Amino acid sequence: MSADRVVLERGKDTSLTVHLFGATVISWKCNGSEILFLSKKSLFDNKKAIRGGIPVCFPQFGPWDLGPQHGFARISTWTLEQAPKTLSSGDVTAVFTLTDNDETRKMWNHGFKVTYTLTLKETEFVSDFVVKNTGEDSFSFTALLHTYLGVSDVTKATVSGLKGLQYIDKVKEGKVFTEQRELVTIPENYDRVYMNTQGGHIVHDTATGKTIIIKKTNLPDTVVWNPWEEKAKAMSDFGDDEYPKMLCVEAGHVSSPVTLDPGASFVAGQVIVAK
Ligand code: BG6
Repeated sequence: MSADRVVLERGKDTSLTVHLFGATVISWKCNGSEILFLSKKSLFDNKKAIRGGIPVCFPQFGPWDLGPQHGFARISTWTLEQAPKTLSSGDVTAVFTLTDNDETRKMWNHGFKVTYTLTLKETEFVSDFVVKNTGEDSFSFTALLHTYLGVSDVTKATVSGLKGLQYIDKVKEGKVFTEQRELVTIPENYDRVYMNTQGGHIVHDTATGKTIIIKKTNLPDTVVWNPWEEKAKAMSDFGDDEYPKMLCVEAGHVSSPVTLDPGASFVAGQVIVAK
């Protein structure tokens, strides 16, 4: 095990592996089954964001005038503030933090501390995401947990919790549409920001019968993304044939920014349940 990886072990072949580069969760094994997708071509060069798992997008989701796409959190080395600790319940928790430093201040001159607490339960994985403004001026940001779920065949997956909601379609010039379907299927290049997805989602892999439940707190948007064939080929850190095996269902606060006054905190989180 390399020094830049932190493993939360819960027994019964249930574990979470977190890379300090980006505090990126790169594996969640639940009773022996891997829940997340990680590209075989992910570079792990500590320069480019890890392709798969759960990169953290902060202080920006999407293209950014001040720095790299999806912000600097996913390409920064985080601090392990609290090493994995087993609680009386048997659950295991660890805390990762990122604070402003010379590199972040070159792009975004604000004082902040992000505290990312991960707790591994028997069949659930809880992420608490807190941003504190430690500086002397207000700032605005967007944030997102870029979860890559592993699926047996993306065309056989369905996502609930989107019916009747508006979405920004990034593959259709950012036009806004309303989702009509109870269960969304992904038959082509999808890049959609669904807004006001308060109820969370059930992702069902109809080919295997496996189900993932995503519950969210203070993350009002959900991005559904799969690059499909052509875009997959254009990505140097993603296998040409890997797109059918992944589905990104990303909980975030992205369609409108969060503004934090000095001393204030933004508290959000996600719970993923594997069934
Ligand atoms: C998604 C975005 O969240 O991330 C897409 O909606 C983007 O537009 C994708 O292509 C991957 O981004 P990146 O920077 O990791 O290649």
